Amino acid sequence: MDTASAPPDLESLLADVKPDSAGLLAALHRIQAAYGYVPPAAIPLLAARLDTTPAKVFGAISFYSEIRSQPPPQVSIGWCSGPACRLKGSDNIRRALEAVLGISLGQSTADNGVGLRLVQCDGTCTLAPLLRLDGRYRGPLSVGEAIRLARELKTKGETPT
Ligand code: FES
Repeated sequence: MDTASAPPDLESLLADVKPDSAGLLAALHRIQAAYGYVPPAAIPLLAARLDTTPAKVFGAISFYSEIRSQPPPQVSIGWCSGPACRLKGSDNIRRALEAVLGISLGQSTADNGVGLRLVQCDGTCTLAPLLRLDGRYRGPLSVGEAIRLARELKTKGETPT
């Protein structure tokens, strides 16, 4: 997503979408590429373009885990659920992150500063147990290091009141 300029309005973005349900996923990806997620206003608009119902569009958004219905967090922590990471104690790391951040796996902090999501093994098991921070690897991590990292990220994301 280009952060230097505003995304095109939804009408323009979907102007060439034809009434064909085969285009639903491609249209959702296009919206997400422009906005970072699929905003609620896009659902009835896309349904009208595809000549289908908002419920069907919403169902697709709910079904495909790669489609976001909320803006992405400022920092996304990926917790690896693969076997090497789990054998080396990643469940304790997950529990520590959840406790420090006050969220569960799959959620973001209230200010949307930090999100915690499950990721799969991508073959970088020599770093197990690891976390992925917006594509960068941190590992092997101890529980203490994970707690320090979560506190640091949480503090950065908090806005002064
Ligand atoms: S199991 Fe976590 S990177 Fe392979």
